[in-house]
Amino acid sequence: MAKKLWEKSTTVNPEIERFTIGKDRELDLLLARYDILGSIAHSTMLRSIGMLTTEEMENLHNELRSIYEETEHGNFVIEEGVEDVHSQVELMLTRKLGDTGKKIHSGRSRNDQVLVDLKLFTRNGLQEICEGVMTLFGSLIEQSEKHKDVLMPGYTHLQVAMPSSFGLWFGAYAESLADDMLFLKAAYSMCNRNPLGSAAGYGSSFPLNRTMTTELLGFDSMNYNVVYAQMGRGKCERNVAYALASVAGTLAKLAFDACMFNSQNFGFIKLPAQCTTGSSIMPHKKNPDVFELLRAKCNRLQALPTDIILIMNNLPSGYFRDLQIIKELFLPAFSELKECIGMATYIVQRIEANRDILSDQRYDAMFSVEEVNRLALEGMPFRDAYKKVGLDIEAGNFAPDKNIRHTHEGSIGNLCNEKITELMHETFCSMDFEKARSAERALLKR
Ligand code: ARG
Repeated sequence: MAKKLWEKSTTVNPEIERFTIGKDRELDLLLARYDILGSIAHSTMLRSIGMLTTEEMENLHNELRSIYEETEHGNFVIEEGVEDVHSQVELMLTRKLGDTGKKIHSGRSRNDQVLVDLKLFTRNGLQEICEGVMTLFGSLIEQSEKHKDVLMPGYTHLQVAMPSSFGLWFGAYAESLADDMLFLKAAYSMCNRNPLGSAAGYGSSFPLNRTMTTELLGFDSMNYNVVYAQMGRGKCERNVAYALASVAGTLAKLAFDACMFNSQNFGFIKLPAQCTTGSSIMPHKKNPDVFELLRAKCNRLQALPTDIILIMNNLPSGYFRDLQIIKELFLPAFSELKECIGMATYIVQRIEANRDILSDQRYDAMFSVEEVNRLALEGMPFRDAYKKVGLDIEAGNFAPDKNIRHTHEGSIGNLCNEKITELMHETFCSMDFEKARSAERALLKR
């Protein structure tokens, strides 16, 4: 039996075959379960418009659910010579069910099949990322609250600038994640629209019921215009990549801060010895490799939107095989970022803060603004107070008052962590993950 869906009288050259299949046999394994969900929905719809009998549909569903179980047990493979997951599933159905298997592709193309697979994969992946981000957020807020009274130097130009605190430092990254969550939410909404039924990108002359597959798959809505549905390939991935990159950007900056603050020259934080790595030559070393790898991986993840853009750059509308390559970059990004978020959470929970940084006189000058403001509050014009304190410092006459009185929103004395948490929850809770999950469960129910 020919293993290409499209093979007719000629057989394809093996070199061409290897090149065009590329890494699909491996990467499409990540899409397999979603391809099956799409096929269950599609065949249900085909029966509703009279293109399959109830018996044919039930046979297809039984077989598809068995294949789904194989994917769950890690037994699903894409055979040599088979191009992709779509071909593999159809091949398995046809081997088992004969002509019934050959009917399932009515009214669809691998173009809308891979579109729907990617949407379902991404929807699931985004849920996992959002949940991971929430856990990390919780740990950051916890550390912030725990250390809200522990002061540390704040820097501008990497020069000692003004008093800051561990409460502010941890909390800043929590709030950064609350903004990243907005991107994730937008990405989730954009990805939660059904492209199935757009077929090769121009629809079908069969009276497809796209509303039905939209509901069965638990999508919020559909990509209505069939040409636009196909144009979403690459665009959706790029926009999701922006959201992933936003989270990665937060983690990379946190990692850099942590590496720097962990250095002996700063000594602001310490990692438990079990969370550091050693040197093969220098017996004293306890290196923060975790943060360094987090930084590198998360910096690389921030290249993802650009990588995707470069692949789709200047493609006109309509399907092109170029789009296949996006999977190579896009699909692994989810597990990579998920791992980084998990590791960041683990390590953030274990950061030990130095509670005694400010006894070191090198940080005394950072209280200069506090003194200027104290004089200004007593009535001295700000510019005069500024000058007086500046001259005192130059003359070596500055004795800092280290009692900090910051009260406004978001300052050392008033972190507003509960407000930040509220913003985060509002965004997170507006995504209805359960709708997607329960639709998928219903499709798999025997
Ligand atoms: N592997 C292909 C991809 O990822 C599937 C779609 C193939 N469609 C086609 N017209 N050759 O894009």
